[in-house]
Amino acid sequence: MRISIVGSGYVGLVAGACLAKLGSEVTLIDTDSERVEVVNNGLSPIHEDGLNEILGQVHVRATTDYRQIVDADMIFLCVGTPIDEDGSMSLEHIIRATEQIVTAMEGGKGYHVIVVKSTVIPGTTEGVIIPILERTGRKAGRDFGVCMSPEFLREGKAVYDFMNPMRLIVGEFDKRSGDALLDLYRNFNMPVLRTNLRTAEMIKVASNAFLTMKVSFINEIGNICKQLSIDTYEVAKGMAFDDRIGSKFLDAGIGFGGSCLPKDLRALIVKARQMGYEPGILEEILHSNEKQALKPLQLLKKHISLEGARIGLLGLAFKPETDDVRDSRAIWIVQALLQEGAVVKAYDPLAVANFKKLFPQIDYVAVEEVLNCDAILIITEWEEFKDLDYTGKIVIDGRRIPKAREARIYEGACW
Ligand SMILES: NC(=O)c1ccc[n+]([C@@H]2O[C@H](COP(=O)([O-])OP(=O)(O)OC[C@H]3O[C@@H](n4cnc5c(N)ncnc54)[C@H](O)[C@@H]3O)[C@@H](O)[C@H]2O)c1
Repeated sequence: MRISIVGSGYVGLVAGACLAKLGSEVTLIDTDSERVEVVNNGLSPIHEDGLNEILGQVHVRATTDYRQIVDADMIFLCVGTPIDEDGSMSLEHIIRATEQIVTAMEGGKGYHVIVVKSTVIPGTTEGVIIPILERTGRKAGRDFGVCMSPEFLREGKAVYDFMNPMRLIVGEFDKRSGDALLDLYRNFNMPVLRTNLRTAEMIKVASNAFLTMKVSFINEIGNICKQLSIDTYEVAKGMAFDDRIGSKFLDAGIGFGGSCLPKDLRALIVKARQMGYEPGILEEILHSNEKQALKPLQLLKKHISLEGARIGLLGLAFKPETDDVRDSRAIWIVQALLQEGAVVKAYDPLAVANFKKLFPQIDYVAVEEVLNCDAILIITEWEEFKDLDYTGKIVIDGRRIPKAREARIYEGACW
């Protein structure tokens, strides 16, 4: 099958590389010419386990030229959907990319299925994307197909997740579109749900909102446990024997960040409010997650004054195994530390280059120098932090690193 993928970030590039490995002919379209050049050199512009290996094995062509989509059987729409300042989901990239698809398709007579993979607020495919696609008189369901099939991959494990999907959600405009997408996935083994476009969109944002609720819930329990000298992790372990609860996303700490969970939650809240509904639970998740980000500073202030103190940060990425710093907890913490007059020295195995774009003014140092600071904050649970020598230090641990307990002064975020 010939597949064009519009947007070659975490979702598009991983899908493109994996589909090429499975035998499809893949063309990636991206407006970022540097990214295009890196991919054409057989390399990955992002850090994802196993991605460079695949890109070295298969031929994936990348281009900034939309005309290359004309021959595609299927076009995946994988551009970013960040949020605007008011928290609503920005459709700027989606609209621009869809318009460019329409222009490129003009004159072409072939039938393509357009598959929306980007996360969008329910109603977007029907209310925004299809009307743009139909501007030239071509009709969805007759001249082209449309599916909305959200992506559930985890950054850092994206290649594995693409190859071993937990589920396939096929939101279909019509049966022919859905059948075509199912045909692409015919060799995968996973539960499939065929549904309409807006339900598929809601399944994605509702899933993300549910995960944020689990994290904020266990952090709340953790904050209470800490005061009562109860081990939150043992509580979570005991809870997890109940398979209605499960063990995933119950690691108390300093909250969730990343490119998806916070923004999708915010966008859902804004959408609900626009419709006149106050989503109280969702609002509280967001609020408690924001408070939790600053918990390490509250704890640190019990032990030292921040003005002029050298504070070492272990971890800048929003989670381990990625170089992504979008909405990372480190952003909140560094901002607050700088406001308090602290001198910040930070180390991360992968994310320094990305973090430097946001905070060029702090010191990026080797891990040894972080350990020599007046106090250390553990922000990301990188494997390599598990073996450091914390003896004699002041450590505030946001991620439950057992060896950090050897510190002279040790405080866990929720334990
Ligand atoms: N990152 C994840 O873990 C993840 C997981 C599931 C779903 N999603 C969703 O998938 C979508 C993509 O996420 P991502 O993390 O891959 O984004 P990203 O920011 O990493 O990549 C988006 C890419 O789209 C390109 N782009 C922007 N406008 C374009 C245009 N008009 N034409 C062509 N290319 C254009 C950008 O240059 C960039 O390379 C988002 O909606 C996101 O919420 C992301």
